[in-house]
This record gives sequence, structure tokens and C-alpha cells, in this order.
Amino acid sequence: MKLPDNLDQNVSKSVIPTRRVAGQLEAALERKARYPFRFPRDSRPLGGQFTVQENSRRLLRYFYFERRLMQALGAWTLTIPEFEVKLETGRHIFWHADAARFLRERLTEQEMRPKAIDAFRDAGIDRLIEEILSANSAAEFLVGIHQVAGRALTTAYRHHCDLTDQVTDTPTIRCLRRILSDQEPMLAWADAAIAAYIEGGVDEAGLSQWRWHLDRLLRSIGGVSGADPRGEAPTPLRIDAKPFERGTVPNRDVRFDTFKNTCDYDAADGGERFPADSYESLRLRFIRTQRDEVDAIEAFGTFIWDIRFRTSTPSDLARITWDEARHTEIGHRAMLIAGYDPFELRNRLTGSTCRGPMDPAFAMAEINLFGEVGVLKTINQLIDAAADRNDEVLRHVADYIRSDERTHVRKGGRIIGVMTTLEAKASSSAPAGSSPNASSVSAR
Ligand SMILES: [Fe+2]
Ligand SMILES: [Fe+2]
Repeated sequence: MKLPDNLDQNVSKSVIPTRRVAGQLEAALERKARYPFRFPRDSRPLGGQFTVQENSRRLLRYFYFERRLMQALGAWTLTIPEFEVKLETGRHIFWHADAARFLRERLTEQEMRPKAIDAFRDAGIDRLIEEILSANSAAEFLVGIHQVAGRALTTAYRHHCDLTDQVTDTPTIRCLRRILSDQEPMLAWADAAIAAYIEGGVDEAGLSQWRWHLDRLLRSIGGVSGADPRGEAPTPLRIDAKPFERGTVPNRDVRFDTFKNTCDYDAADGGERFPADSYESLRLRFIRTQRDEVDAIEAFGTFIWDIRFRTSTPSDLARITWDEARHTEIGHRAMLIAGYDPFELRNRLTGSTCRGPMDPAFAMAEINLFGEVGVLKTINQLIDAAADRNDEVLRHVADYIRSDERTHVRKGGRIIGVMTTLEAKASSSAPAGSSPNASSVSAR
């Protein structure tokens, strides 16, 4: 449509009148009266508080928060000792990664280019995340991640759904509601987990002080949206005394008896439970290996932290982390069905002890090529043997694990490709004398 050149002359800001053609309204009312169907009335009004530009500005901050929370959870996977918390953290990494993916997609529909979305950084959010990471315990870490950042984000999402246009911006509302359906149960779990820490003896006052401190830091950057009234930041911040560095030691809670001097369960147990290479022996080894994939949550979580900002949102890595958390819980439950207390079976720490300080590309190759390809080499025979023996528990769990591991091998090859390409690029562009290792090529 071509607008006339003189459109801006003699601008009037009065209400534009309604002008009718004689008879049309009466005819329309007559036709409506003959229409027999009374469908549900859609009462959503037009309106809303945000322009597309303001919508994108807010969504971009949400995206960045989600991305940074995913990375932050990855950074603590080695350090968290409690089995239940480590396992849930593996799952939560994916909830945040998936939220970032939804938001990124919506942003591309709201006038933003993917490159600009991925390049967005915010120093205030970074300082908050780094301070959350400087927690002194897993309980403090959950307080920061979930009760401060997570709660503020979900509140912002609900407000956004209420304030934005209910008709023109429905895709944003749907995007945020899908995220809330993952994150509201996650926050309810976190509240219960923090209560469990307190009931188990963790100092409640210390956690309250830490929550207050982080809440003030969040307020000082204008809250999640950046548009809230700003207060003064608390002092001192832990990060100003000592920047955060991720842990390299795989921690386990007191229920576990661990070993790291061998990969062989019989050697670790000091003898065979079943004859070597018997079905019974292979079956128990498979179940124990799954439970001990708690080390894979640590491996993939750590990659996500170590390669932060070197790729766009790593959905594949985050999804694998969730799958490994599921394999861990599958193993734990299968131990119970096999008649064992899961904590009577010693936990193999060997993988995490080696990989904790390792360069991420090497660690990823080790787990993908040796761990996952290794599983696939033997799993078909194991499933057939289980079916022959009417061992339904092993047949059932191995069937699903086979399909997951096949998916991981396929995705893992791509991930290693991205990692090694980045390594090569980084080393060719690095200044003379600098090392192309993980920390020096970080984009941050
Ligand atoms: Fe696995
Ligand atoms: Fe896997």
C-alpha cells in the first residue's frame, strides 16, 4: 500500500470517527440473528504493555538468565555431594537449556537475529550468577539458583503473561507457559530439598543471610527484567575477594563407599559374586554401570560449563545430561529390584577422577568413544540373553538405554566436531605463547 506524500500534514490527535454506509449495520444484525450457534466467547482483549522492541528486550534478558543458569548448574555437578541433588541437577540443566531454546526461537520472531541473540551479554547478570556460584555448600547453591534466580524468573514470566497483549503476543505467552510447566515443579522440589538440608542440620540462618544478600544483588540490577527500581548492591561480594573456579573433585555423600583405583567391580569388591563372564555377573555389572553413570552427569555438566559461550545454546549436551541422570536413577531402581540396597554396592569414581581436570574435548571423546560405543558393542547380546532367561527387568531397562546411547553416539560425534573445530580455530588465532586449552579460549 502506497501512503500519500502529504499524510503527515495537519495531524489531528482526536478520536477517528466511525462512518457507516446506510443499511449495512441493520443487515448485519439481521444475519447475526439467524446464526444459530453460540460458541464459547473469546474475551481476550487487545492491548498490553509492551511494544515488540520492549518485548524482545525482556525476552533477551530471560534467555540470558536461562543460559547462564544452565551453565551454572553444570559448574557444580562435580561438587554437589548429595545423590538426590546431583541427579535432579542433571535434569534441571536440561529444563534451563530447553527454556533458552524456546526463548531464542521466540526472539527470532520478534525482530532479533540469532547472532545478536547469542552475542548478548549482561555484566550485571554475570555478576549475580558468579556470586551464586560462589556458594559455600550445595544448600547455599540451591538457595541462589532456585530460591533467588529461579523464583524471580518464574515471577517475571507470570507477570509478562499477564501484562503482554493476550492476542497479538500469544506465542510469547505460550512459550513462557511451557517453560513454567517445567520450572514450577523444579522450584517446588528445590524448596523441599532446602527444607531437607535444614532438617538435616544445615544452619537456616546462614541460608537466610545468603538469600537476602543475593536478593539485594538481583534488585541492584533492576531484577530479572532490568526495569524494576534499583537498590544499592550489598557489600562485600564473595567474587570480589575470590573469583569463582569450578571444582575438580567428584564428591559423594556419606552413604556411598567409593573406589577409584580400578574399573573392575570384582576387584573393587575383593572377589567375585558370580563366575566371571556368567550372565549373572554381566547383568549386575550392567546395572551397576548405569547407577555409576552419576559420573556422566558430572562429565556432561562440566562440559557445559567449560565450553560456555563457545557454541550457541548446547541443547544436545544438556539433553544428554538429563538422559544420564535418568540412567543413574534407572540403575538405582534396578538395584532395588535385583534385591540390593543401592548403597551396599560400591560406587566407581574412576571416570570422574580422571575427567574432572581434563580438557573438555578429550573428556567428551573419552566418554563418547569408549563409554557409549563400548556399551553398544555388547548391549544387543545382553538384551537377547535377558529375554531368553525371562529376566524382564534387565530386558526392559537395557532396551531403553540402548536407544538413548545410540542417540548419544550420534549426537556426540557432532559435539566433538564442534569442540575440536573450536579448539583448532582458537589455537590458530591465539597470540604466540598462549595455550589453546579450555580456559584460555573461553569467549568470556
Ligand atoms: Fe548412559
Ligand atoms: Fe550416554
